[in-house]
Amino acid sequence: MTIRKAYHQTKSELDAIYPSGEAQAIVDLLFLELLHISKSDLIIKPDQILAPNEMSLLIEKTNELREFKPIQQVIGKAHFLGYDFLVDSSVLIPRPETEELVLLVEVSISNVFAASILDIGSGSGCIPISLHKRNPNTKIQSIDVSEHALRIAKQNNKIIGSSVDFILQDFLDELKWENLGIFDVIVSNPPYIPLAEKQSLDKNVTMYEPELALFVPDNCPLLFYEKIAAFSLQHLKKNGTVIMETHENYANEVAQLFESNGFISEVIKDGFDKKRFVWANRCH
Ligand SMILES: C[S@@+](CC[C@H](N)C(=O)[O-])C[C@H]1O[C@@H](n2cnc3c(N)ncnc32)[C@H](O)[C@@H]1O
Repeated sequence: MTIRKAYHQTKSELDAIYPSGEAQAIVDLLFLELLHISKSDLIIKPDQILAPNEMSLLIEKTNELREFKPIQQVIGKAHFLGYDFLVDSSVLIPRPETEELVLLVEVSISNVFAASILDIGSGSGCIPISLHKRNPNTKIQSIDVSEHALRIAKQNNKIIGSSVDFILQDFLDELKWENLGIFDVIVSNPPYIPLAEKQSLDKNVTMYEPELALFVPDNCPLLFYEKIAAFSLQHLKKNGTVIMETHENYANEVAQLFESNGFISEVIKDGFDKKRFVWANRCH
């Protein structure tokens, strides 16, 4: 089959399950990453024939996409702030709004030399690794309770060439906090979706991304933020900053939680105009 025919056939299969613009972006990425065929190749050499092994790979991966597997898991990587992060089913796929979280951390450390930073909930390592690459003077620790996630994060640390200190630790276990140091900045994109919302999420999230990364109990939506506030009172330097990604419905409550613990806090919207981040300064 020619590459043009294969492209249009794949796109029409995916058009049936994805919104049109999204299907187009997915097919472009699939052809580029899987077959090394760019959009310009489609124009310059549309009649080039795909080899049998390329055709079978394309069919296999298209079937995975039709089963709602996210394109990042199909190709095994996700783009984040200019870096390619390995991803699999053990880590959350890095989201565009989390890139904004990293930029907020950079604002907070702009006047701090060699800032010490703790990231809570490593996942793929996208936050601490991109922060360290862009700010090589920083000293960054990142913790996660998932051994599988840390394996991916450590691989990314090596491949991307950063030196983040990844630690296997349950952050909810306060007895282990003494292992951690004192920080200028604490950053976190913790699990924050109440379990009751699971049914309203897309299939490619609920079927393929780890529950551990997504959900909190319905009766305790601020679980991680309450722990982060308590931890910050012991492990954040005076004038230090906590920067967190939040559920849009709970950003105000998270900000109030920090205010009630003596922080000055602010809710910040993301590029989609949703209340997505809370910035809290420790002023005592
Ligand atoms: C929303 S994901 C964020 C991943 C990554 N930072 C990102 O932004 O893509 C939350 C992460 O917190 C981790 N996590 C969940 N419970 C935890 C706990 N008790 N202690 C430490 N990490 C935890 C999950 O394994 C997951 O990697």
